[in-house]
Amino acid sequence: MPARVVVGTQWGDEGKGRIIDNLAGQSQMVVRFQGGNNAGHTIVNEMGEFKFHLIPSGILYAHVTPVIGNGVVIDPRVLCEELNHVEARGISTDKLKVSGNAHLIMPYHILLDAAHETMLGRRRIGTTKRGIGPAYTDKAARLGIRVQDLLDKKILRQKLDTAIGEKNDLLEKVYNSSGVDPFEVMEQYAGYADRLSPYIADTSLIINRALGRGEQVLFEGAQGCLLDIDHGTYPFVTSSNPIAGAACVGAGVGPTAIDEVLGVCKAYTTRVGEGPFPTELSGSLSEHFVSKGGEFGTTTGRKRRCGWPDLVILDYAVRLNGLTGLAITKLDVLSGLEEIKVCTMYEYIHNGERAHYVDFPPHQSIFHHCLPVMQSLPGWKEDISGVRRLADLPKAARDYLDFITAHTGVPINMVSVGPGRDEFIEV
Ligand code: GDP
Ligand code: IMO
Ligand code: MG
Repeated sequence: MPARVVVGTQWGDEGKGRIIDNLAGQSQMVVRFQGGNNAGHTIVNEMGEFKFHLIPSGILYAHVTPVIGNGVVIDPRVLCEELNHVEARGISTDKLKVSGNAHLIMPYHILLDAAHETMLGRRRIGTTKRGIGPAYTDKAARLGIRVQDLLDKKILRQKLDTAIGEKNDLLEKVYNSSGVDPFEVMEQYAGYADRLSPYIADTSLIINRALGRGEQVLFEGAQGCLLDIDHGTYPFVTSSNPIAGAACVGAGVGPTAIDEVLGVCKAYTTRVGEGPFPTELSGSLSEHFVSKGGEFGTTTGRKRRCGWPDLVILDYAVRLNGLTGLAITKLDVLSGLEEIKVCTMYEYIHNGERAHYVDFPPHQSIFHHCLPVMQSLPGWKEDISGVRRLADLPKAARDYLDFITAHTGVPINMVSVGPGRDEFIEV
């Protein structure tokens, strides 16, 4: 199948990076299509651990062309740092292509992100404070500065002057904080322009040509379905669309080009930042997932909130993404639990009336107050990190996977049992 989209089915950090790494071996191109350096995608291979925020996870293979599509918002400082870091580890970045239509994260976006969160106080979203929301806001407001503007200093200066006037007013007069110096920003961005100009390209054309040649192209989603700005747990979401449909818009390919959509689903559930989370756990069970699963954010280092698997949100992800397959990650982390509680529907009690939701509730106020209805499945004790064939998993682990398939109706294509490149089972 030449074109495959890989997306997160939960609240991000499902292990998309490692799944992309597994699939990139047989692909010619890996394309990021939304989000920015709020993403943190971890890959562990024989060279050690890599954490990518902007560079597509396929860069570790010399035969892969990594592409940053137009739908991504790019902090050029972070991209330059990431390029330097990767090159210092002996990996070539020569093949990287960056869309000229992608929008730039500017220093004032980062300041505004933080100022807005402070203003919200207890109602904060818990953003990564990387300037993602303000950058997408400017894109929609047509005040954005794009990667291609780096190539024309006169235009860059003009656009910067227009934007900075308004942003400094906002920062100083509304948020009572300091603005940015336009001359400093111009100088900084001129430096990034020199570093990044060799990579800037018409990425939609490049991707479509590759598809035309029948090459295998992977579209690497960031974040996850429940963080989608349209379909997620708004306002506790990110500012882009992490669902599969966004691959077309964010890469410049038509919907008919997509052949497969693989949903990455952690064997349990995690979330970073604020917002509702029906199956969330506390105490020793949560600690089991945090410590055994190493559940600390790849980008911000924040401890992730952990909970039982939730098939209501997985069904929702199947629907919104049109999933053709599932990759279940971190199954090894469930080892050692007496039982696995799987949420199969929600209960909502309002004015003494009890309602059940097997589908994702249509109103956020309902979702915020839903209680999970759990089905208990037997756990297993064995360490499964060395297992490479489905048949060698303990029966309880296989039963858990079968339960997911029977419930969702979507086949499981891969199961990962450790962070390493070879620590997975192909189904
Ligand atoms: P992403 O944002 O979806 O790419 O996921 P992250 O990289 O932020 O978080 C996933 C974390 O789980 C990383 O630290 C991975 O190294 C780790 N990981 C991935 N797959 C597995 C697995 O099967 N088992 C274990 N124990 N860790 C895994
Ligand atoms: P990957 O690609 C997990 C969360 C933030 C916050 C909300 C909004 O690694 O799965 P933002 O900075 O985007 O405005 O923050 O979204 N968030 C993520 N959570 N994984 C991610 O990316 C995330 N990117 C953003 O924690 O709750
Ligand atoms: Mg991550």
